[in-house]
Amino acid sequence: MRLLITGGCGFIGSAFVRLALARGAEVTNLDKLTYAGNPKNLAEVEGDPAYRFVHGDIADADAVRAAIGDGADAVVNLAAESHVDRSILAPAEFPRTDVVGTTVLLHEARTAGIERFVQVSTDEVYGSIESGSFTETDRLAPSSPYSASKAGGDLQALAWHHTFGMSVVVTRGSNTFGPRQYPEKLIPLFVTNALDGQPVPVYGDGMQVRDWISVDDHCTGIWTALERGEPGAIYNIGGGYEATNLDITRRILDLTGRDESLIEHVADRPGHDRRYSLDSSRLRALGWAPTAAFADALVATVGWYRDRRDWWEPIKSGEYRRYYEAQYGRGSASS
Ligand code: NAD
Ligand code: DAU
Repeated sequence: MRLLITGGCGFIGSAFVRLALARGAEVTNLDKLTYAGNPKNLAEVEGDPAYRFVHGDIADADAVRAAIGDGADAVVNLAAESHVDRSILAPAEFPRTDVVGTTVLLHEARTAGIERFVQVSTDEVYGSIESGSFTETDRLAPSSPYSASKAGGDLQALAWHHTFGMSVVVTRGSNTFGPRQYPEKLIPLFVTNALDGQPVPVYGDGMQVRDWISVDDHCTGIWTALERGEPGAIYNIGGGYEATNLDITRRILDLTGRDESLIEHVADRPGHDRRYSLDSSRLRALGWAPTAAFADALVATVGWYRDRRDWWEPIKSGEYRRYYEAQYGRGSASS
């Protein structure tokens, strides 16, 4: 299978590129290398003859055509602006990449005769749920500029199925964690701050609930949807491990040998969704199931960050410091 994967230098994208190569696919990776895109994430596949990198923007039709080259069997769109807090601080880039970029990609894929298109989306498009779990038929009620942009991308992708008969599948994954996640998200931020003995900024009361999934389980879910998903269908991909942010924080402090004195309750995120929870039975019916136990995967993730300061210390400088100052009102751990 010849795959065009976008956003392959990011956190989930790089894991998905590795999975696709391991499963025998030929991969072209189109990535703009934003602050979140890191070529080091794919260092070990650079020499693989089945792998090709194209530096470019999914919103730029010429770049997309260059990446498509003489064709592909499917597109898997993982490129996105992905961080909720940045979408609140500086929203403009979000619809540009997540809606317009997705639209350009769909159009160029269809023009090139590529039938299959997987739009990697998020559970955040459903908004918050007090009890029970979201199914794929629930209404869209995104809360943040990020999730509203992702919802726009989903609707564009589904429209390409309805209007043009393209074989589009949308996946909606839950909160993902593991190695190589940019240290702006809860788990890598708190792990790296704690390793440095710095405060961990918990928003509000910390009792918000997220449904956690390991990056490898998320990727096998996307792969299952790519291979077996029904055209026009949406598939939730949830890990099924629900926990409050405070619970996650305490586990991280424990695993890094720190105590709760590092917890700093800071102002809540505006419009903060209280709880996410996914019903993934539709994808499970295709034979997928998450395999990682949360506690084991968290231990492995903390171990990775402990061993790979060479990966995250350079990130926690430059642009990251400006972002940290704007978001938290003071310098980052490594500043
Ligand atoms: P990330 O921020 O780590 O990586 C995004 C990648 O996309 C980067 O390599 C970046 O350079 C690239 N990119 C950004 N804009 C681009 C553009 N215009 N053109 C080409 N490349 C561009 O993101 P992630 O956490 O790996 O998320 C990947 C996808 O999965 C996103 O679509 C996100 O919405 C979705 N998702 C993420 C999570 C999560 O918890 N991280 C959960 C569910 C869904
Ligand atoms: O649910 C899927 C989504 O998960 C993805 O679509 C997004 O791309 C991804 O960023 C993630 O969004 P969240 O906003 O849920 O993740 P984040 O890691 O930013 O925050 C997780 C929870 O932790 C959330 O309730 C906010 C809280 N938090 C986060 C940060 C960064 C804090 O309390 N303090 C923090 O400093």
